[in-house]
Amino acid sequence: MSAVDQNPGPIDWDALRSAAIEAKSHAYVPYSKFPVGAAALVDDGRIVSGCNVENASYGVTLCAECGLVSSLAMTGGGHLVAFTCVNGDGDILMPCGRCRQLLYEHSAEGMLLETVSGIRTIDEVLPDAFGPRQLAAYAAEHDND
Ligand code: THU
Repeated sequence: MSAVDQNPGPIDWDALRSAAIEAKSHAYVPYSKFPVGAAALVDDGRIVSGCNVENASYGVTLCAECGLVSSLAMTGGGHLVAFTCVNGDGDILMPCGRCRQLLYEHSAEGMLLETVSGIRTIDEVLPDAFGPRQLAAYAAEHDND
């Protein structure tokens, strides 16, 4: 079943983008000056969002998707059906590689992303992904080790 089938209606990309733009206004970006806002539709219909939060120790910076995933867990869990991300101008931004992995973990099957090249599935933006199934398959094979 695709993400679209699971969703009660068509995905309101405008509403998701508005949520991402609102989230972006909370970004803490004294170093890069590059605010990011992300928003996603959850399979129970709620919208979760996040902004990037930087750190003087640059590598510790939290991408907007980190906040989004944290909010997902904090507000009841579930799986992400549709996702969008914007930069300071409100233009669509591709999630970085690490964040594609973050999103994959919590994705509904066929999760959709608004990308610079149109609507794409999570499998298109993170092909042949490593995920919980690989860990479970390995654990099952080595149960009696
Ligand atoms: N950033 C995100 O928040 N998400 C992404 O997917 C790409 C990058 C942030 C991290 C940093 O605060 C700023 O953008 C510049 O790299």
